[in-house]
Amino acid sequence: IQVMRKVKSPAEVALVREAARIGVEAHLEFMRSTEVGMPERALAALFEFVSKREGAQELAYETIIMAGEHHPWGHYHRWDRTLEDGDFLILDAGPDYAYYNADISTSFPANGLFSSEQRELYELGLGIRQVCLDNYRPGTTFSAVGEEVRLWLMENGHDASADRFRGLIRWGCYNHPIGMATHDVMASMTGPDEPLEAGFVFACDINMPESETMGIRIEDTVVITDDGYENLSTGLPRTVEEIEAFMREDGLLQKVGR
Ligand code: GLY
Ligand code: MN
Repeated sequence: IQVMRKVKSPAEVALVREAARIGVEAHLEFMRSTEVGMPERALAALFEFVSKREGAQELAYETIIMAGEHHPWGHYHRWDRTLEDGDFLILDAGPDYAYYNADISTSFPANGLFSSEQRELYELGLGIRQVCLDNYRPGTTFSAVGEEVRLWLMENGHDASADRFRGLIRWGCYNHPIGMATHDVMASMTGPDEPLEAGFVFACDINMPESETMGIRIEDTVVITDDGYENLSTGLPRTVEEIEAFMREDGLLQKVGR
């Protein structure tokens, strides 16, 4: 059963793709509604509302919102902060659709405009993510992908031996399998040197805690295909410019109230 769950059939991938589509819709509405003064609880309720409106039977896990002093928790889900100017948010959230899960994280500023420090860290994470996505294909391994990350970091003037990059390099941005659980069974995986197979669904997760009040998480649900990969959680604004333009739009909470 462990082996069967590791490699998803096309029918299973279709269910995860629908879960990811729903998750993207919910992330979009959440981002659009984010503004200074917004209670996190209203945003968490919005995420659940949009997910269920779009067909989710449940959430895959408690919606994680980290801002301000909650960043170091890693998986904070008490939703008890009212967003402040200067806050940088991580939203880590996804739905359960027909018992299949999606796991998606976005990172963005509460006021809709990146500070120079926020931009620098975020764009570093985005660069690492792109290297990983560009190298996922059947037959390669996560450690081979991670080696490409290491080379990219050095080419771009970063100290690739720094602690913050260790996991990303060792595992090529892989964090965990996804399927009938957000962290699907993984006992049959031998490690980062196992060749990737079409049908393997996993979290490509760039998670970089930076300080007591700042960190980024850029996470997608990805499947290995016959000739490369498919990002199932596509459709999100991911660059700084895309996020800033998108957050200028009014969201549902601006229309119906908090
Ligand atoms: N996105 C939640 C987790 O991977 O633990
Ligand atoms: Mn995850």
